[in-house]
Amino acid sequence: MTLAADVNTEILKNAQQQIQQDLSTALAAFSLPEPLKSAVHHTVMLGGKRVRPALCYATAELKPNHPNFAAVRRAAVAVELIHCYSLAHDDLPCMDNDLLRRGQPTCHVKYGEDTALLAGDILQSMAFEVLGSRLFDTQQSVDAGIVLRQMQILATSSSKMVCGQVLDLQAEGKSIDQTQLESIHRNKTGALIQAAIMMSAVTIFEGRDPAIPQLRQYGQAIGLAFQVQDDILDVVSDTQTLGKTAGKDEQVEKSTYPALMGLDNAKSYAQQLHDQAFAALEYFENAHELHQISQFLLARKS
Ligand code: IPE
Ligand code: IPE
Ligand code: MG
Ligand code: MG
Ligand code: MG
Repeated sequence: MTLAADVNTEILKNAQQQIQQDLSTALAAFSLPEPLKSAVHHTVMLGGKRVRPALCYATAELKPNHPNFAAVRRAAVAVELIHCYSLAHDDLPCMDNDLLRRGQPTCHVKYGEDTALLAGDILQSMAFEVLGSRLFDTQQSVDAGIVLRQMQILATSSSKMVCGQVLDLQAEGKSIDQTQLESIHRNKTGALIQAAIMMSAVTIFEGRDPAIPQLRQYGQAIGLAFQVQDDILDVVSDTQTLGKTAGKDEQVEKSTYPALMGLDNAKSYAQQLHDQAFAALEYFENAHELHQISQFLLARKS
């Protein structure tokens, strides 16, 4: 499979630009009291790879210039808001107790635990407000059935994320088997990544289009691979590159893939999952963007 040197990061850069603008527009639509406003801005606007929005846009590129693209843009904003909420809460002292995120002090370090908790809370409801809004609409609004499906997909994946986080915390310092670890990773991380793809998929494809199950498979593989890779990077990378504290998982005895099966096996598992993802894309003739993002994810260093 193609490695780092061949990865074209242009698609991700364009997605980052687009989402940065759209997040800024979305946040400006909310009137929040201080220090909540600053804490939300800190959590959402400063850095991040923006992989989930990029997956939304890349999925929509399977049908370029689709009239529902405004709804894809809302989905991209919504999924990133949920992701940012999950990070603010994940870093809290009662959870992973981290001080550094995206190269910045974590939300609770800068604004206090109370505000960080509330910033996460409001980001969650803001995500659904954005989905139900007419933000980015030009003329006609999107069919209400599509909005409902987007909301269902996001809500389900967000609940799974919370369940995964519970299992993750319970598994600290324990020895669990691969099935249990896979379940943690699919829930805490995989589900939201798959949701990014599926919210876009249901917006541009009709309900029974065979593209939809194909994308679901792609999302499932790439979603699990993402957390396997996150676990690997915690071991092999450094704090400066990651923008979060390296080596933290081992320190607190998290159940991770490198801990369970060793670093080399974890790396080949990540590769295997990416191969499954690439195989799911073979159905499409024009999945160039999803392909590029997959290659970026496999080669990423942070
Ligand atoms: C980190 O996600 C948390 C996980 C779910 C593994 P990302 O690696 O996407 O974090 P950012 O958004 O780029 O900071
Ligand atoms: C995070 O998993 C999953 C979330 C739902 C945020 P991690 O705890 O491994 O994420 P990082 O390493 O802190 O980004
Ligand atoms: Mg965690
Ligand atoms: Mg963490
Ligand atoms: Mg991690």
